[in-house]
Amino acid sequence: MSADVIDGKAYATDLKADVAKQVTILKEKYNLVPGLAVVLVGDDPASQIYVRNKNKSTHKAGMNSYEYRMDSDVTEAELLTVVKKLNLDPAVHGILVQLPLPKHINEAAIIDAIAPEKDVDGFHVINSGLLATGGRGMVPCTPLGCIMMLKDRLGSLSGLDAVVVGRSNIVGKPMAQLLLNESCTVTIAHSRTRNLAEVVKRSDIVVAAVGVPELVKGDWIKDGATVIDVGINRIEMADGKTRLVGDVEYAAAAKHAAAITPVPGGVGPMTIAVLLKNTITAACRIAGVDEPKI
Ligand code: GUN
Repeated sequence: MSADVIDGKAYATDLKADVAKQVTILKEKYNLVPGLAVVLVGDDPASQIYVRNKNKSTHKAGMNSYEYRMDSDVTEAELLTVVKKLNLDPAVHGILVQLPLPKHINEAAIIDAIAPEKDVDGFHVINSGLLATGGRGMVPCTPLGCIMMLKDRLGSLSGLDAVVVGRSNIVGKPMAQLLLNESCTVTIAHSRTRNLAEVVKRSDIVVAAVGVPELVKGDWIKDGATVIDVGINRIEMADGKTRLVGDVEYAAAAKHAAAITPVPGGVGPMTIAVLLKNTITAACRIAGVDEPKI
């Protein structure tokens, strides 16, 4: 068996095109221009690239983009002041504080200062609570992108065995919750799980988000399973060159899976597309208008 490649780039392109159409409708019908504010602290090169890409995509979709750059020695109080100002700004519908933050800043305190209705990352405890209890909150972008691709491929996920490898607040935990909400039987595994091979072997859906290069071995994958690899790990090869690999041994897994996301080009591109979609959702809810149907 050779797996279908799940083309995250193509899904992201389609979703961004839908978002751009929604923006046009919101402008025409309600004079509403969704706005996304991104706050970047420090000069981490990877974060800078993400933020640049987010701004570019936001503009391309016809939305307003606001960027706040702060030095790495900014105090927690100064950062809180910026967040509180954005909470009150009517032109801003989505607020994203790029993580990780410098060690002297309490990340949880910053996230919890963001108005829950503008928390387009879905990281606020109100939003994680709403996700856990079936309420209408904001859902974290990467897991939401994964569930969209899974539902598009598989239709109903009801009753399927799913494993999420990884237990982060950003991906693992909300991913497990979304799969549970789709009536999967969900196992959350992680780097300390003792019988990981067995757990993966019985799973119809494998979502790997643990940040360990190729931790999930190809021959663990059940024949016909769907594999979503969230990992992006840069590894050094024998010749000194670097290469991006996921958390799954791709080539070997593709021999067993029915479908698998590649790294790069799988989950990554969907995250920004869903961020734009979440900004539309937030703008419509704040303005009290229905989200345009495309
Ligand atoms: N850093 C890495 N991924 C993310 C994300 O999805 N949101 C934020 N705010 N920071 C990140």
